[in-house]
Amino acid sequence: MCGIVGYVGAQPALDVVMAGLRCLEYRGYDSAGVALVTTDKMFTEKRAGKLANLEKALVDREHPTATTGIGHTRWATHGAPNDHNAHPHLGPGGRVAVVHNGIIENFAALRQQLESAGHELRSETDTEVAAYLLELETTRGADLTTAMRSVCQRLEGAFTLVATSSDEPDRVVAARRNSPLVVGIGDEETFLASDVAAFITHTREAMELGQDQVVTITSHDVEVTDFAGMPAQGRRFHVDWDIVAAEKSGYDYFMLKEIAEQPRALADTLLGRFIGGRLALDEMRLSDDELREISKIIIVACGTAFHAGLIAKYAIEHWTRIPCEVELASEFRYRDPIIDRDTMVIAISQSGETMDTLMALRHAREQRAKVLAISNTNGSTIPRESDAVLYTHAGPEIAVASTKAFLTQIIACHLLALYLAQVRGTKFGDEIGEIVHQLEQVPQAVRDVLATVEPVRELARELRDCTSVLFLGRHVGYPVALEGALKLKELAYMHAEGFAAGELKHGPIAMIDEGMPVFVVVPPRARGVLHDKMISNIQETRVRGACTIVLAEKGDEKVATYADVLIPLPVLPTLLQPLVATVPLQVFSCEMAAARDHDVDQPRNLAKSVTVE
Ligand code: M6R
Repeated sequence: MCGIVGYVGAQPALDVVMAGLRCLEYRGYDSAGVALVTTDKMFTEKRAGKLANLEKALVDREHPTATTGIGHTRWATHGAPNDHNAHPHLGPGGRVAVVHNGIIENFAALRQQLESAGHELRSETDTEVAAYLLELETTRGADLTTAMRSVCQRLEGAFTLVATSSDEPDRVVAARRNSPLVVGIGDEETFLASDVAAFITHTREAMELGQDQVVTITSHDVEVTDFAGMPAQGRRFHVDWDIVAAEKSGYDYFMLKEIAEQPRALADTLLGRFIGGRLALDEMRLSDDELREISKIIIVACGTAFHAGLIAKYAIEHWTRIPCEVELASEFRYRDPIIDRDTMVIAISQSGETMDTLMALRHAREQRAKVLAISNTNGSTIPRESDAVLYTHAGPEIAVASTKAFLTQIIACHLLALYLAQVRGTKFGDEIGEIVHQLEQVPQAVRDVLATVEPVRELARELRDCTSVLFLGRHVGYPVALEGALKLKELAYMHAEGFAAGELKHGPIAMIDEGMPVFVVVPPRARGVLHDKMISNIQETRVRGACTIVLAEKGDEKVATYADVLIPLPVLPTLLQPLVATVPLQVFSCEMAAARDHDVDQPRNLAKSVTVE
């Protein structure tokens, strides 16, 4: 949440910072601002709304040719998204500027202390107190780095703070606790950002900061310490993803591009996992004996990643015979869950930074559970704090609505289930090989779906003005229905609900009236009774006036009779069906958002990486 950029070098800082913010706008787009610093001069500009508003405002203003600057794109927590509350925030004398990602939980007490000392703060944000405290420390003689260390010791909560001072225009100082921050190390220039995307066109050499660390960057130096001032080390890494992956490449929206990238993302996630008849994970700090002791699995995740977990449960229980629960990460630690050292907690997170998931993971670790992360972001906090990691190789996902990350999370869970089955001997090697072979067919099956989705687009345009859409599924089709509804809510801002089809008669069927679109995910025919029950459910909605949009495997003649619209799916084993059934639903929501003139990639009120609880 919130995108942050810092720069010290030889190029015009404004250009570098603005280009960086453009790449980070997916993290928040309620307001944006920059601060440029030269000797004795601090220039700031900030505007509510998208980055374009800030760009327009900058055109009309003269600004210094600074080579040091910071910038911010905001997802509002404290204070409405207006010009006033936009970052950067300045200290009382306007010499120190600060941008912030996270929440300073004790800001009210700190604010009160400042106000009792006679200071009049100008915004309603938690961030401004940090700007005041930093500048006051420097007024007492501390340099900006020392000031940052001592202020951070007084702050509670989650924060990345990036600060610059007109007294020290050759440097930018930053600190992190529970919020992301990476350093980009270039040739005579240094960058700070929430995500490498902000500096990847300048350098691929990066450094990830640890928890509770302060970093000072100049054009040629990076100094890291802990909050007490003891020298510390960041972790250096090379960014190897292709820059094209972070561009739209001719697509109207990132979301469309990312939907189209799914076959490749799935193939990349499967690549190199099954060698010499054995499965391997990326990082495994648990022994086979420890894995054999696991008596329970709990998956924790949020949003779309939670739906991936719900789908994974079926394969995990079926292939490993280990009981598996799936829990919303935001609820997990507050219910005093029963966990012990024989519990494996799987944290699924595209970004690897989702605060709810991170806190659930930490709670699990405190109870001595074994923690495994499934993430798309190498080096992010969740994998770093886990005992084992399985990376999805979806590449950068820029659109706020998660698509390719979702499919790769499902297939990663399948790989994990098979890995556990291999270690625990609940499946023979040849059985595992056979399932891996089926998984390898999935990228082509998704390609086949993508080649036939034009009618889904037309359908979205036709249904543009409807007010409510239902999604029904059974078995693994149920989480697919939940995901279909979530996508429509977040992109089209319309009422959408996903239900287990069997539950319909226990209440939701009352909502159905003439013409209401009802999507139904039909289990493969091989599921016999389940398949037939679903046909009954379709009829129940149809006789009450619903317009049934049925997703069923190709050649399913029995179901075709009851479909107002039929969306054929490639034939796959039941447990793999979500990997194809989700795709038309993604396309439907994307097209619906476009048809309703919404911003497809940046839906209102949302942000890609949710780093607050
Ligand atoms: O980065 P994460 O996978 O942890 O994110 C979890 C959710 O915030 C995310 O999936 C969200 O629900 C998406 N916007 C849905 O499209």
